[in-house]
Amino acid sequence: MNVFEELAQIQIEFQKDLKLALGVEQLDYLKIKYMGRSGLVTNLLRKISSVQKEDRPKFGAEANKLKSEISGLISQKIEAVQDSGDSKTVDYLDVTLPGRGSVVGALHPTTQIVREICDIFVSLGFSVIEGPEIEFDKYNFEMLNIPKGHPARDMWSTMWIENPNQTDTNSTLLRTHTSPMQARFMETNSPPIRIVVPGKCYRYEATDATHEWHFYQIEGLVVDKGINFSNLKGTLYEFAKRVFGNDRKVRFRCDYFPFVEPGVDMSISNFKDSEGNRPIKGRDEDWIEILGAGMVHPEVLRGVGYDPDIYTGFAFGMGPERISMLRDGIDDIRHFYSNDLRFLGQFV
Ligand code: FA5
Repeated sequence: MNVFEELAQIQIEFQKDLKLALGVEQLDYLKIKYMGRSGLVTNLLRKISSVQKEDRPKFGAEANKLKSEISGLISQKIEAVQDSGDSKTVDYLDVTLPGRGSVVGALHPTTQIVREICDIFVSLGFSVIEGPEIEFDKYNFEMLNIPKGHPARDMWSTMWIENPNQTDTNSTLLRTHTSPMQARFMETNSPPIRIVVPGKCYRYEATDATHEWHFYQIEGLVVDKGINFSNLKGTLYEFAKRVFGNDRKVRFRCDYFPFVEPGVDMSISNFKDSEGNRPIKGRDEDWIEILGAGMVHPEVLRGVGYDPDIYTGFAFGMGPERISMLRDGIDDIRHFYSNDLRFLGQFV
């Protein structure tokens, strides 16, 4: 094959290649195949010395024309692909294919239950406020009637934060509950108070089906003249009825929290159904605790400058993940934070 035949051959091969190259990557490859250092056109041009003298001008002109044509056509097609917004394909569109559905995101199940619970309290006249996750000892413990060295501190396995600017190394922590917002809010507001505080809490504890080391709580606080224990029970019964319906049983038991007196915890029934299954399968218990509550301790009221002879109040702190587990039949709290789309996808 002489050089002119070779040139014609390259021209034909390029036309075929150009048709098949649909994406930028393939077009870039063609540039190398034809114009690269050992590309077909480059090699052809090198052969000029072997061409007979009288044919050289003609060959040179034709080979250079081919070179600029090839490079022009490749550039044009790359531009077209980029303009179409699809770097993989340009001139092929099969309108008969079924459309591709887009993946729609959804709120995380914890966000959903937190919002649902807050909405219930908003409808009962509460306001929603938030507070810091990094907290001072003062608010997390001291102003809640838990001074340094108080044995009740052991109830909240705490993650302390080292702070080189503080002499007291034990004064900053990841809040262990949302109760610090009781003191923070009362400190800067006057009664009447009716708030709920959703937020993340952290505890240095082993995980199991109902315990995570990071989880949410929703705190509630009501302070006014004449607030009593019946108000606490009435509010929490109403809340439980709205979340779980009329059939689920609610149980109050005495419990101890230094910042309330008297203190209680509230549990929701986890009884077996007719087939012997429990709503939370991993727990062979009839009752699952969902919140702690009680009448705000007079010491806490005094600490924020309220007169406990004039004002009384109640407070509660609940775990929204456990509430979702009991209501929606989720057997392990760790599903919430393991980022498994098979679980999360059920809440879309
Ligand atoms: C408290 O944290 C108190 N601050 C609650 C309180 C507020 C009492 C106001 C009185 C007045 P407790 O440690 O029991 O209490 O936690 C309250 C709720 O948070 C529990 O009932 C549970 O639903 C949830 N909870 C606690 N620890 C965990 C955990 N490790 N994982 C998931 N949920 C948890």
